[in-house]
Amino acid sequence: AAGDAALIAEIKQLLIKRDAVLVAHYYCDDAIQQLAEDTGGCVADSLEMARFGARHDASTLIVAGVRFMGETSKILSPEKRVLMPTLEATCSLDLGCPEDEFAAFCDAHPDRTVVVYANTSAAVKARADWVVTSSIAVDVIEHLHAKGEKLIWAPDKHLGAYVQKQTGADMLLWDGACIVHDEFRAQGITDLLKVHPDAAVLVHPESPQSVVELADVVGSTSQLIKAAVELPHEQMIVATDRGIFFKMQQAAPGKQLFEAPTAGNGATCKSCAHCPWMAMNGLENLAAVLRRDPAEANGEEIFVDDSLRERALKPLTRMLEFNR
Ligand code: 13P
Ligand code: SF4
Repeated sequence: AAGDAALIAEIKQLLIKRDAVLVAHYYCDDAIQQLAEDTGGCVADSLEMARFGARHDASTLIVAGVRFMGETSKILSPEKRVLMPTLEATCSLDLGCPEDEFAAFCDAHPDRTVVVYANTSAAVKARADWVVTSSIAVDVIEHLHAKGEKLIWAPDKHLGAYVQKQTGADMLLWDGACIVHDEFRAQGITDLLKVHPDAAVLVHPESPQSVVELADVVGSTSQLIKAAVELPHEQMIVATDRGIFFKMQQAAPGKQLFEAPTAGNGATCKSCAHCPWMAMNGLENLAAVLRRDPAEANGEEIFVDDSLRERALKPLTRMLEFNR
């Protein structure tokens, strides 16, 4: 739309004026992903977003995604100003793992190494020995298991169960889930496979075990896009947030991509698999944070308390320095 074109032009100008770079997740609106790409920012999975933001020399990072992604950026780059289109964009995994309850769980099992998923608050990360994202969870747990360590895993129970199955590690699992991926159903995928028997099934590991079991490839958002390109299949059934289709279709233009059915699919909505918090990022609120005078409080700036930051930095640094 013409309004969008004017906003996009304004945002491009403001990014330069504020010495800012846009770091976006694949689940954001297409227009935001395109903007990030066109302006020298990045569109990536959560691990690559963290790496990109930490390495980039802009003085301001605009993180389009959900809150834990902004916090991670701030923890890794305290000297940078980290802004988000809205600080209200949270995550059901983060919400389902409150700091005090998590600390009590860890205290009850002092002999266990604490591994948390990146989708957590800075306070929960501060209590952890390791942070992992879905792209390296199996590799890190394999490494810890080989050293004979017993583990606590939080908060995603599905990703935890998947990693446990892959590695055989001794893991106590927190009972959390992603409200988006938890809705995918094996039956729906099996039915769709009857119509498209040659399709490959690509699954994000936040999905239920029964769905993961049907997968040809299980991986992070970036890994699923890579698989869509590299697999010989002409058709893909994809179980993750539908925001991924923008980049996946660009990367694999000749292929036919199908959304994996969710529990509510058809009955309540045509396309349910979209994170409500990712959807809070829009061109309007992105422009609004950039318009504000940098000398004044922004309202959408991420701050992480110093002592918390230092504690959360250790497990995050382990993640970034981990080599398979
Ligand atoms: P990725 O690390 O695969 O991008 O996942 C982040 C996320 O929130 C998935 O729901
Ligand atoms: Fe969290 Fe799920 Fe949204 Fe990802 S898709 S940010 S895991 S609620």
